[in-house]
Amino acid sequence: MKISIGSDHAGFEQKQQLVEYLKEQGHEVIDRGPDTDERVDYPDYAVKVAMDVSFKRADYGVLVCGTGIGMSIFANKIVRVRAANVTIPEFAELSRAHNDANVVCLSGRFIDIETNKKIVDIFLSTEFEGGRHAQRLAKLLPIERTGA
Ligand code: RB5
Repeated sequence: MKISIGSDHAGFEQKQQLVEYLKEQGHEVIDRGPDTDERVDYPDYAVKVAMDVSFKRADYGVLVCGTGIGMSIFANKIVRVRAANVTIPEFAELSRAHNDANVVCLSGRFIDIETNKKIVDIFLSTEFEGGRHAQRLAKLLPIERTGA
């Protein structure tokens, strides 16, 4: 799969580890930065990764900041993006199965790397269930079109 990934300074160390991990798993990785752990603004990276997913340059996105919260707030402003802030493996599965999430936002400060690797594994390998969940997600379409 093609995965776009980004972070801020708080998520940088884990982002670097996840880039290597995803490559080892055979994924094609688009690393949108940053390239160092210097202080940066998370919205800049959230939008880059979200745009990759929105315009199908990537199948899925992975974002890491201190909590994952700021990243998810910004990524969710981009059309066609359904970003989930995931801190436990069970929510990784549900965010795919029920919400068809296409971007996972991780906490680099509160969740350890092994748990985040597990979250990413589950996120990338769980299928959307469709059915009643698709009917609910379809309600996003008019909102995305009109902003109402
Ligand atoms: C940076 O200090 C921190 O605010 C950021 O990484 C993130 O947690 C925001 O949601």
